[in-house]
Amino acid sequence: MVSFSSKLIRTLLVCGIALTVTSVDAQDRPPVDPAKVDALIDGMFTRVSPEWRARAVLDDTQRTCTDRRNQVSGAEAEAIQARERASVVLPPDGNFLGDWRKGFQVANNGRGFQFSDPAGTVAGGNCYACHQMSPKEVSFGTLGPSLAGYGRERNYDPELIRDAYIKIFNAQAAVACSNMPRFGSSKVLTIEQIKDVLAYLFDRQSPVNQP
Ligand code: HEC
Repeated sequence: MVSFSSKLIRTLLVCGIALTVTSVDAQDRPPVDPAKVDALIDGMFTRVSPEWRARAVLDDTQRTCTDRRNQVSGAEAEAIQARERASVVLPPDGNFLGDWRKGFQVANNGRGFQFSDPAGTVAGGNCYACHQMSPKEVSFGTLGPSLAGYGRERNYDPELIRDAYIKIFNAQAAVACSNMPRFGSSKVLTIEQIKDVLAYLFDRQSPVNQP
């Protein structure tokens, strides 16, 4: 049985990531009519704004990944990655690295997009819910790989900094049915916030790259 923290589930829902967790074997799966499931989910969001309602509707990428239970063919993966890559906006000034101290705030903040948030609440990326980052931090999730020493282990290579920017902006541009939210494309994080969290991964001074 896989269990998720409510913080994590919220991040997934906010970012429009479909939760496709199977706790039973495929053969044991009860015959549930998908239309009934869609209707049930639709009924849960009756008192929210149209913008929120729209987030419960799967887009083409989520539909394919859900239908295939994330086991997409090579051609489907390529089509998804090309579509998702098209939504990535690179930093206009060509500079990928922001301020790692602000990046820590982005990585460690799971607030934003909650009904109870005051207007204007700055959303975080909640990276620590899924990743180890600084080896000194004791609280982190393990759904994603450890990112401790990320920049150091990659020799602070500019090509890999660019790749990581694209990954964070739209995780599915890199891995078709990734469970990681599409932070830039879903407008959860701004370009500046992505640059800051990228600096948290790639700045030589960042705690992520200290022993
Ligand atoms: C809901 C869980 C989740 C959250 C939240 C999340 N990630 Fe991820 N991330 C993953 C998973 C799972 C992978 C591995 C699969 C993949 O690459 O898509 C991953 C992969 C990555 C990778 C690529 C690692 C490699 O193999 O080189 C980077 C970089 C990354 N995440 C950064 C971030 C940052 C920065 C944040 C916060 C802004 C973040 N992630 C938030 C789940 C998450």
